[in-house]
Amino acid sequence: MLNSPLNKKIVNQKIKQLRIPEVGKASIREIVALINLIEEETGVKFVRMEMGVPGLPPTEIGTQAEIEALTNGVASIYPMIDGIRPLKEETALFVKNFINISVNPKGCVPTVGSMQGTFVAFMAAGNTNEKKDTALFIDPGFPVQKQQMHVLGLKYDTFDIFHFRGEKLHEKLEEFLAKGNIHSIIYSNPNNPSWICFTENELKIIGELANKYDVIVMEDLAYFGMDFRRDISNPGKPPFQPSVANYTDNYILFISSSKIFSYAGQRIGMMVVSEKLFDRDYPDLQKRFQSSSFGNTVTLRLLYSISSGTSHSSQWALTAMLKAANENRFNFLKEVKEYGEKAKVMKKLFLENGFDIVYKRDLDETIADGFYFTVSYKGMTGNELVKNLIYYGISAIALNGTGSLEEGIRACVSFVQRSQFTELENRLKAFHGHFSTNINR
Ligand SMILES: Cc1ncc(COP(=O)(O)O)c(C=O)c1O
Repeated sequence: MLNSPLNKKIVNQKIKQLRIPEVGKASIREIVALINLIEEETGVKFVRMEMGVPGLPPTEIGTQAEIEALTNGVASIYPMIDGIRPLKEETALFVKNFINISVNPKGCVPTVGSMQGTFVAFMAAGNTNEKKDTALFIDPGFPVQKQQMHVLGLKYDTFDIFHFRGEKLHEKLEEFLAKGNIHSIIYSNPNNPSWICFTENELKIIGELANKYDVIVMEDLAYFGMDFRRDISNPGKPPFQPSVANYTDNYILFISSSKIFSYAGQRIGMMVVSEKLFDRDYPDLQKRFQSSSFGNTVTLRLLYSISSGTSHSSQWALTAMLKAANENRFNFLKEVKEYGEKAKVMKKLFLENGFDIVYKRDLDETIADGFYFTVSYKGMTGNELVKNLIYYGISAIALNGTGSLEEGIRACVSFVQRSQFTELENRLKAFHGHFSTNINR
């Protein structure tokens, strides 16, 4: 390991201590634990790209509103399970202002992060029809959602979008949907980990096929508006956040406060269920949960059982942030643009040192710079790349854990400080210097 800033022996010893059989296959949280241990022992600060922590201060409008709510005594009062009225109304307004879709506040329900939202949505959707027992993930995707499926004991299918962009998506989706066993389609847009963004035509394909096969579309908008190629930050004015909701009324949107408002610690997100789906009666849901409508099952059966709602004070925080965005007093995208700007510099450093971008394009457009990007290194699998980079003080996760069939890693820019860019460059140079000349990898 030429010019590696780390003692290989110590790294290997820590891998052993955590009983990680193959570093490349470790989960995000395992990599976090490993790097913490190595940093502690060696004193070498890593360029940490493994976890999607926001990395910016929380939006003050939120923290101030939350403090005020606590001072006013909300801590002693159970919130309504389907959310406090002002939050539901501001969410519906936000959806109108920034997606240009009209939704009923009734279907806007807070959850303990989008994580809880997808958990209950999977549970409900997986029981809507006895004949439809499988969810379909358009991958690559957020690994924890697959873990949720495992925890719930639910089945899923998946395919990697890499070779199926544009019109090809139609045939590929239909191949799965025509089997008749799919109850829902799940994806994130912008996509974690690849940062691809679906085109309008691709969303139309998804929406129209969802109508044809009566499938629920779960659109995870954790990175709402963060396709910085288009500025969607003006409320009520185009362009808007693209959404499948323009093409089907069988959808659930997940809007998380974690990334757009840097509010991850307070664990609050909104699930926005279309009115048609919210009110729809499914006889099989009645059998399973003694509650026939989708909306009542999610709120009064599932959310009630799991956490009896979302923390009261954080609901006031989110209300205030959404209200400020709706009233054009707070440009939430201006704050997070920093991620795109950092990504631009970091991608350049990787490209100059023998790396290539894996998911490069949205059809005829180069992908946006944002929260994540994906890179590969010639002749190395993603797993090997994760492991080899650790010896050079750089941490990331392998793409194959995300449902991708491509070899490479996901790099998350949020936690990397600008002050680390020179160090990143030096480490990448040392890495490339070693591996481009060393054939005995
Ligand atoms: C695609 C995607 N969905 C959901 C989440 C989790 O959101 P929350 O913090 O609201 O639970 C993340 C977080 O990284 C994500 O990347």
